[in-house]
Amino acid sequence: MKNVVRKAVIPAAGYGTRFLPIAKSVPKEMLPLVDRPVIQYVVEEAVASGIEDILIVISRSKRSLEEHFHPAPELEAELELKGRLQELSSLRSLNNLARIHYIWQAKMGGLGDAILHARDHVGNEPFAVLLGDTVTTTTDSSRPLTRQLADLVETHGGSAVALQEVPAEKVSRYGILGGTEIAPGVIRANRFVEKPAPEAAPSRLAVSARYVLSPAIFDHLKRVPVGKGGELQLTDAMASLMSEEPLHGLRFDGQRHDIGNKLDFIKANIHFGLLRDDIAPALRSYLQSLVAAG
Ligand code: G1P
Repeated sequence: MKNVVRKAVIPAAGYGTRFLPIAKSVPKEMLPLVDRPVIQYVVEEAVASGIEDILIVISRSKRSLEEHFHPAPELEAELELKGRLQELSSLRSLNNLARIHYIWQAKMGGLGDAILHARDHVGNEPFAVLLGDTVTTTTDSSRPLTRQLADLVETHGGSAVALQEVPAEKVSRYGILGGTEIAPGVIRANRFVEKPAPEAAPSRLAVSARYVLSPAIFDHLKRVPVGKGGELQLTDAMASLMSEEPLHGLRFDGQRHDIGNKLDFIKANIHFGLLRDDIAPALRSYLQSLVAAG
């Protein structure tokens, strides 16, 4: 039972500078993919992975995240009265997703600082981290990415991160992990570097927005110096923890949609639109007409 992953932390306090001007007044986590905000997909991935308790790290101008998950009895009553049962059930399904808590990150001290804010809430058990601006899908949809990482930690102990191979010219945008492949797609890490120059990168395996971490990470976050970009880096704390506990990377089969990136946001809307029975046929023929028009 010791390694069972029940809690998740979702950092969602960042400014969203890559998505201005919209991110000035609308949190990027609240941008819609079809009709649901990005944060809802992230919470649903956590819940489908067995998570029961979620802490969302927010900041000024992010109150709409709280509002989204808070029950709205008067709106529900109105929908019931009008017989809008489909909309009603879409609201009600939000009410019992998980226990969701919020904490404010006072200043933007980096991903490591955001995670450190979760220390008291998480306590002494392994926990998942899902970046609030990134939606992931897996080829085996019955096993969401966070579940796959939790399985690795429940088997091997220590911590685990999701990985995707990126082209050499993009390694400097990510945490890059080096190590030995011990089973197909499973890498036992021996190096972990935040945003390296291409010539200094241990591999082209980039951390992709999902982690399951040992609670020992908090001591290392306290200990490591401020890193890349003047921010406390989670990668640096994990590299430090690696000398005490195993860290595994999982090169997963699926896709990562980084909503902070404009092109990815548009692609994600098409991706999720094509999965929806109500709009897929019309969307598909619109896309075909665009292609035909060149
Ligand atoms: C963060 C992490 C980085 C990771 C990336 C994508 O960077 O620091 O290691 O690869 O998310 O998951 P950011 O995109 O916040 O600069």
